[in-house]
Amino acid sequence: MEIIKCKSYRDLSLQVGIDIEYQVSRNSKLVLGLATGSTPKGVYEYLKSSTVDFSEVRTFNLDEYVGLEPEFNSRLKGKKGYGVPKHKQSYYYFMNEHLFNEVKFKRSFFPGESQSDTYDSLIDACGGIDIQILGIGTNGHIAFNEPGTSRDSLTHVVDLTENTIKDNSRFFDSIDDVPKQATTMGIESIMRAKQIYLLANGKHKKDILEKACYGDITSDIPASYLQEHKNIKVLYCD
Ligand code: GLP
Repeated sequence: MEIIKCKSYRDLSLQVGIDIEYQVSRNSKLVLGLATGSTPKGVYEYLKSSTVDFSEVRTFNLDEYVGLEPEFNSRLKGKKGYGVPKHKQSYYYFMNEHLFNEVKFKRSFFPGESQSDTYDSLIDACGGIDIQILGIGTNGHIAFNEPGTSRDSLTHVVDLTENTIKDNSRFFDSIDDVPKQATTMGIESIMRAKQIYLLANGKHKKDILEKACYGDITSDIPASYLQEHKNIKVLYCD
């Protein structure tokens, strides 16, 4: 693991954004693995200002809440709004708001409850993920791989822990509105990425990040599995 302390959140976002931009300029058919949450927003802001052509790039999102998947209407195929977000807190809505409405990619995929079995083969069929962006939950989860997730897990449906439901309730009107399940790429799905950026912003992530990077590799802290990845950079700031 290469661990880099950044001067600021802006610095962190720029480093990742500039590298993605550079790699897309060298390989227009790059495959990007994208994350939601507040942490990667700065990277997406940077990409929105880029002049590089992303129109051949395909993206795969890490996760989506069960029940909040977009509705797809084949009659609208090719038109804006083809996938209609069901809920403002769906990750599909988040990605439209923070990136997809402005940066045009070739195709963007999300895992859903009904196609969880085929998501990994779809990623393989596209040549695998070249760059995967990850945040980290305060309980050490990556994507929605909660403590206890096995190293060889592929895309699957999970029950969210109380901790995650509480953390994510800040985005919903009430804690009761937070979905109790999500579809997520598994640890093995993430580890297959050729390059990974693990990002953490803020003092509240410091303890868990330290455990993930320097502690034992254990299913109790799913992010600790990342220590075994051959090409990972961890960027963090206070
Ligand atoms: C959610 C997502 C994770 C993300 C985490 C941290 O639980 N499923 O992929 O890493 O939130 O979010 P934030 O970046 O807002 O701290």
